[in-house]
Amino acid sequence: MTDSVAQGHAFALDYLRDRSERSVVPSSSAVADLDQLKGELPEQGRDPSEVLALLGGVGSPATMVTNGPRYFGFVTGGALPVAMGAGALASAWDQNAALPIMSPVASAIDTTTIKWMVELLGLAPTATGTFCGGASEANLISMISARDAVLARVGWDAPSQGLAGSPAITVITSVETHASMKKAISLAGLGRDRCVLVDSDAQGAMDAAAGLAAIAAASGPTIVALQAGNVNTGQSDPFEVLIPAAKKTGAWVHVDGAFGLWANAAPTRTQLVRGVDGADSWAVDAHKWLNVTYDSAVALCANGDDLARSMRADAAYLPSDSGERVPMNLGLQMSQKARAIEVWAVISTLGRDGIADLIERSCGLAKRFADRLAAGGAEVLHDVVLNQVLVSFGSNEMTDQVIEAVQAEGTCWAGGTTWPAHQLTARRAMRLSVSGWETTEGDIDASADAILLCWNAVRETTS
Ligand SMILES: Cc1ncc(COP(=O)(O)O)c(C=O)c1O
Repeated sequence: MTDSVAQGHAFALDYLRDRSERSVVPSSSAVADLDQLKGELPEQGRDPSEVLALLGGVGSPATMVTNGPRYFGFVTGGALPVAMGAGALASAWDQNAALPIMSPVASAIDTTTIKWMVELLGLAPTATGTFCGGASEANLISMISARDAVLARVGWDAPSQGLAGSPAITVITSVETHASMKKAISLAGLGRDRCVLVDSDAQGAMDAAAGLAAIAAASGPTIVALQAGNVNTGQSDPFEVLIPAAKKTGAWVHVDGAFGLWANAAPTRTQLVRGVDGADSWAVDAHKWLNVTYDSAVALCANGDDLARSMRADAAYLPSDSGERVPMNLGLQMSQKARAIEVWAVISTLGRDGIADLIERSCGLAKRFADRLAAGGAEVLHDVVLNQVLVSFGSNEMTDQVIEAVQAEGTCWAGGTTWPAHQLTARRAMRLSVSGWETTEGDIDASADAILLCWNAVRETTS
């Protein structure tokens, strides 16, 4: 048994040693070799050492090096060494974090880590919540809890009666809301096309005056879904203005802060999210900017009873209420990986200062990236306030060709987007997100140089 574990760890160590030397993108031959993993369902088993050798020999070379310093696609953190180490131990423990009785260690770490997250993120001290698979799931947990809470306020018991015949709920959100929020709104039965969509400003934040007007116009049960960290620009909605106004009307306010809520853990960025602590619920990822392995996020609620109203599950075989925090009664999952272990290890290792430094450093590197590309003639399309950068290389066609060339070249990886997506004047842009702990100024400079060289090469072939 331990042979396989040792072999898996040896392949993992080899992988981590080699990955910085490698192109961020796997070679076409490495991708073609994946045919070796795609055979028919095996009728007979084989030696585990052969299976692991296939994963190490064929799988490792076909990875995108997202766990490295020059991957700037989507919003992708790496994995801190202590997170991977703690993850290896957690995998050996294989604890189920659903119930305290199932694992004293998972329960102690989970409860402590949720408390630390609330403090680090500067949220209401009463807040509590649950680990889950990603901000998408955290948004869903929050939307279901918000729905049931605003209906309870008008005397409708949605968990037992369902939604048929219930009072209508108004959902107010921005045209710039993230795709996962729209999905959460749909899945919670609130109808994404029934939302009141409020315009955004030029930086991608909800327009404050339009938001206030929408809140004032709403009647009956209302949910206001705001965002910390626009996925394109990193900009946040004006919480300080909107949250008190929404709360005054009795609305529920949710904040999708998948990566942007971490601004509240860094002294020079807190002004971007001022007032965010006044919300009723928050979604935040750990697998993005906190640099733990997938999958890991947290759904938090100012009042844990609001989560429990919607998420609680009872059965004769389950322990009765002992007053302890019960993760399975605060989220969608019963059985669950003890995701808190890696987060606990990262927070214990970095401390509040180290986490602030991780956030500040990423933001500083994003600005450096933008400045280097602008100095090379590219156009930065927004104020770089956090870790996200959008750049244009002229026409939409040219920008797309540069993105394609960069993805093939392999020094770094960047994706594309359309900005601002909902406007006729939208332009194609290269989208860069600096979220990994390992990225240095040297990585930014080498990547900016490679991008500018790709632009030159495209210009030469098209002129
Ligand atoms: C603002 C925002 N919300 C939600 C998500 C979804 O997060 P996850 O991929 O962890 O489900 C993302 C992902 O980039 C995001 O940027």
